[in-house]
Amino acid sequence: MPEDTCVLAYSGGLDTSALIPYLMETRGVAVIAALVDVGRAKDLEMLRQRALDAGAVDAVIIDAKSEFCTDFVLPALAANALYEEKYPLVSALSRPLICKKMVELAQERHAGFIAHGCTAKGNDQVRFDVSIRCLDPTIEVLGPAREWNMTRGEILDYVAARGIEIPLTKKNPFSIDENLWGRTIECGELEDAWEAPPEEAFTVTVRADQAPDDPAEVIVAFEGGVPVALDGTPMDPVTLIDTIDELGGRHGFGRIDMIENRLVGIKSREIYETPGALALVKAHREIEDMVLPRDLLHFKRGIEQRMADVIYDGQWFGPLADSLRAFVAETQKRVTGEARLVFYKGSCVVAGRRSPYSMYVEELATYGAGDTFSHESAKGFVTLWGLPLEVWARCS
Ligand code: ARG
Repeated sequence: MPEDTCVLAYSGGLDTSALIPYLMETRGVAVIAALVDVGRAKDLEMLRQRALDAGAVDAVIIDAKSEFCTDFVLPALAANALYEEKYPLVSALSRPLICKKMVELAQERHAGFIAHGCTAKGNDQVRFDVSIRCLDPTIEVLGPAREWNMTRGEILDYVAARGIEIPLTKKNPFSIDENLWGRTIECGELEDAWEAPPEEAFTVTVRADQAPDDPAEVIVAFEGGVPVALDGTPMDPVTLIDTIDELGGRHGFGRIDMIENRLVGIKSREIYETPGALALVKAHREIEDMVLPRDLLHFKRGIEQRMADVIYDGQWFGPLADSLRAFVAETQKRVTGEARLVFYKGSCVVAGRRSPYSMYVEELATYGAGDTFSHESAKGFVTLWGLPLEVWARCS
């Protein structure tokens, strides 16, 4: 009889499948495999069966799509959170929720351990370890893939020797993570930072020159910072994100190719496909530009970067993250309105925006008739505004 139980964050892939016998053999634990669906998960029942075949005492699928959207993706969108101004934090956002689900399951089943399949070189190990310790410090976190020193070939031999079948039908040369907010692609030939990524790395976006010759326009409506409708059709946010993701991808928009600074000190070459996330951040920023005053807008941009770092660095459940989210939420009260996006051959541009809270007042902005701006006040304002600089210049 195993002495203790370990809940395993299971993806259905080779590594986490191999972890099932590995944990049983090296730790003497019973393994409960838990696969959290944060959007776009496929063949769930087959993967569940695979975990049982590999020796798990139980295998559960947890549908967390809508929770992921409401509690993680939407706050990140409200913060326009892009790590290093580029990456919409696809994997970084899902990890804290996966951990929350693991901890709940571990508590329910009285498991003393939670295991993950992260390697020693990535950010995900940090997010798993730190989030779980934050949520329940009494649970011990295991990351055996950091230590087992097996190559892919050796892992295949390891599972084959135990009669576990993992049909690697199509040899996948990349490491992929995918959810509602996008798709991440790493490893293999992408490691040569000079070489352009091969087309087979992409599944959501087409190559820009192969996109349709006609542009596509979509109107995204926001209410309090949350996207609520496309072209006037109200939609739940999960459907809305999927829809705009598909539309952008069809028009070749949403590919990211970047050198990223990992928390563990490595620079890595990362490829992402995130048409929906990037288009929604663009549209959302556009409404903010219209409804928020300059000082708040500029201050918020700084908060956004800090928020992106906090998410990236695995501190979602920490007090700084709580405080930043509260600040961002306060800023969203008037972020209501519509942005017109046009997708065309790999680009997404904003063609128009409007809001009932618009601070863009045409009578103040116009150079034409109907101008109400006080021209005579400008001169005195500029004199005093420039006074310190003038004094500085005179003192030299
Ligand atoms: N570099 C990205 C991040 O740290 C993507 C990680 C993808 N994770 C994975 N296990 N494939 O968020």
